[in-house]
This record gives sequence, C-alpha cells and structure tokens, in this order.
Amino acid sequence: MKRIGLVTRDCAGMNAVIRSVVRSACDEGLEVIGIRRGYEGLIDGDIEIMNHRSVSGIINLGGTILKTARSKRFKTKAGILKAIKTIKQNKIDGLIVAGGNGSLTGAHILASNYSIPVIGIPSTIDNDVNGVDMTIGADTAINVALDAIDKIRDTATSLERIFVVEVMGRDCGYIALRVALAGGCEEVILPEKHFNIKKISNEIIEANLRGKISWIIIVAEGKAKAMDISDGIFQNTGLETRTVVLGHIQRGGRPTAYDRILAARYSNYAVKILKNGESDKCIALNNDKLTSIPLAFATQRKDSEVNDYYKLIKILT
Ligand code: F6P
Repeated sequence: MKRIGLVTRDCAGMNAVIRSVVRSACDEGLEVIGIRRGYEGLIDGDIEIMNHRSVSGIINLGGTILKTARSKRFKTKAGILKAIKTIKQNKIDGLIVAGGNGSLTGAHILASNYSIPVIGIPSTIDNDVNGVDMTIGADTAINVALDAIDKIRDTATSLERIFVVEVMGRDCGYIALRVALAGGCEEVILPEKHFNIKKISNEIIEANLRGKISWIIIVAEGKAKAMDISDGIFQNTGLETRTVVLGHIQRGGRPTAYDRILAARYSNYAVKILKNGESDKCIALNNDKLTSIPLAFATQRKDSEVNDYYKLIKILT
C-alpha cells in the first residue's frame, strides 16, 4: 500500500483527524490524497495531495478543511462506480472515511461490495455508532450545548421562567441526556423514552406550589419539537415558557481536548490497520484500548440504556 484517500464529514475534531491521518501516514511512508466535499468529491475526482505541512495549524479548528457534502449520488450504483473510477485513476490503494452512520454505511458498501480497502473513523456529534463508546465530536457538542444552557439558566432563574431547549442528536438522546445531567436540568425528553406532557405539566404545577418556578426542559430533536412541548406546557399550566433551538452551533467550534485526543488516537490506528491489510472495519475503544469492529456491526442501530442517567437527573432535581 502506497497511497490512501481520506473522506470526511464535519464535526468538531475533524481537522484533528485530518492532521493525524496525514502525519501518521507520513510516518508509515504512505501518501495521502484528501477528497474534497465528502463522497461528492470522490465521485467528481475533486482531490488534493496532502503532506505534513498542509495540516499545520488546524488542530484547534472546527469543521473540515476538506469541506463536505451530503451525497445523494453516492446512494446510486452509477455514483458509486464513478467514485471507484476516481479511486483507480488516482492509484488510491485504500480509503479512510471519517463520519457518522451515513458515511460509514457508504464505507461498508465500498469495502464489502466493491473490495475497496476501507477503514471508518466514527465521527459524529450524535454518538450513535453501534459498538463505539465515544465518537469524535460528541464531547465538544455536549460542552457547547452546556455552555448555552448555563447562560439560559441565568435568565430562567432571574425571571422565574420555564425554558424548553432543543438539542441535536438525530434519533439518539446522547447529547440531551448528558447536558440535562451536567446542566442540572429539571426534565429531559428523549427518543429512547416515552414521555407524557400532562405528567410533566403536573410536576411543574406541584413544584410551583412549593415555590419552585424556573425550569429547564431539554428536548432531543429526534423526539419532539421544542415549540410543541412549550405549547403543551402553557396549555396545561398557564405558565409562560420560552423555547431555544440550539441547532448547528453544537456541530462546530473549537474541539475539546477530549475530541482532539480521540481524533489523534483513532486516526493513527486507522492508518496502521489499513496499511496492515484490514478492511471493512470501524475504529472503537475497549477499556481505553484501541480496537476495530466490523463496519457491518457499527452501522446497525445502537440501543442506548438511558434509565440510569434519567433516574439520576430526577433524583438530583
Ligand atoms: O448527524 C449530525 C447532525 O448534526 C444531527 O445531529 C442532525 O440531526 C443532522 O446532522 C442535521 O443535518 P443537516 O446539517 O444536514 O441539517
């Protein structure tokens, strides 16, 4: 193996991935071709040769210097065949794909159906990759959301108001559950758990009678819209509420030390195992030891246990 290609999605820590892949590859005597705009660039042959210098000064930057895109074309056979043409024409011997479930599913198709050597690096704020304890980007997203929630609490407390805050995470309540616990929030509504707006409203009314007036309710985007929860609470309690949708601020920004370290370790390991002939695998951690799991397993739905965290949130409220 002489030359590897690198495809990226965006999340905080992705530039640290690019830096570690390129410099680890240099260390292993491999060349790196950066693919611009994700699978779209692989289809269009939009590439750049990368070296030690081209990744200087990016470890602290959010997003991806390679840019990225959602690719509808890569979901078609014609698109995949064009991507393979780019791989062959540019003499790319193996690929590293850093992204979430969509990107890793594409990586699995390339490896299993078209025999392209591919290793996936789990990178998404959602932390929903099966068999992987922690994806790159999730820690930063939690800290960004927590920073916003701490600020919202200042107003919630001062004005004795109810706030409903919607966080990202697609169908996974990982971000919602962690920020609710770390932010001392009173309630969290999760994709993994049934909720009853009447019950939540009654809790608010009872607490209100005891003199507790301010509440922060976290809603995972995969379960409900913050506005609908606010409306429901207002109708049931008559209390004024405000909504905040945190949105994409959670996906960008300066990566935490945790995400940078994860990016450095996952990417270095990905380069090594790709060079050693492994393929169709996703990097994971097992008791803080780097390991790899089949992409076929990593791309299955992840079932998360949420009850322990949820109970703790309610005890501490
Ligand atoms: O998968 C990462 C994520 O940010 C999800 O949390 C969110 O649901 C989705 O992507 C948003 O996608 P887009 O940027 O295409 O709107």
